[in-house]
Amino acid sequence: MSLALWNHPVTADRYRHFTGRHDRYRRAARALVEAAAIAPGHRVLDFAAGIGCTALASLEQLGQSDVVTAVEAAEAMRLAGAVRTRDLPVNWCPATPAGQHYDRVICGAAIWALGPVADVVADLAGHVAPGGALAVSLPAAYLGEPDVPGGGSDPWLGRLPEVLAGMKLGKAPIDPLPPLNDLALTQAFADSGFSVIRTTLRQRLSQTAYCDWMTLPPVNDTLLGQLPPEDRIAVVGRAASSLDTASWRWEAWALYTGVRQEVQPLRISTD
Ligand SMILES: C[S@@+](CC[C@H](N)C(=O)[O-])C[C@H]1O[C@@H](n2cnc3c(N)ncnc32)[C@H](O)[C@@H]1O
Repeated sequence: MSLALWNHPVTADRYRHFTGRHDRYRRAARALVEAAAIAPGHRVLDFAAGIGCTALASLEQLGQSDVVTAVEAAEAMRLAGAVRTRDLPVNWCPATPAGQHYDRVICGAAIWALGPVADVVADLAGHVAPGGALAVSLPAAYLGEPDVPGGGSDPWLGRLPEVLAGMKLGKAPIDPLPPLNDLALTQAFADSGFSVIRTTLRQRLSQTAYCDWMTLPPVNDTLLGQLPPEDRIAVVGRAASSLDTASWRWEAWALYTGVRQEVQPLRISTD
């Protein structure tokens, strides 16, 4: 996923539209905040904060005087997030403030796109305060773990990508995602000195939600990349009109919470 595509007004607009209509990211954000055990008094860093779903879910658990630092590199997303959280204690930044440490560092629905996972986890881990935690979430399918079918005549929701692929308007990804799996992610946490717990969120993804999600330029680029992002919405809409809207599938989200082992100072008696 290219950062340039996230920094496109159509992306910010479609993300806002999607989160307004569907609870996919809202539910995933709440699960992440629960996995991170965010509580009043915590200083929270929300990395790759998008338009604020994870920051808003954090605020639900924080106290009145707490602040979320939301780091979002794509200006279009960051500005949309700042508007969405106007009047709320969210401090939007284009990059992580240097030298700062946080009780909770969270990264929702982005880890696979940020670079080699060991480097990304090490970087995020560097901002976790002593006794703090790092929590990340991602669809388990991105770990190579296939989802199970749901219901309707298209229970894997495979029909839309099939129809779009048939149009032959795709483009090879500029930066193909490096393969990721459970072992690599768990190892990355361990290498950064964390003991890690994995939990799972299972939710239904409806055909309608999937079609709306497919209008996001970073998502549809491999299938419709030859078209300008503005023109892809109508193309997806036309393809969606021929699909079974009663269809849905299960979607698993993997949540990893790393807690740093406290090293107790060795007390040597001089008696
Ligand atoms: C699916 S959104 C998740 C946003 C939010 N955490 C949520 O759960 O709603 C992924 C975010 O990752 C960011 N992102 C993608 N690639 C990135 C990169 N290479 N460097 C920094 N941020 C990136 C995007 O700008 C986008 O806001």
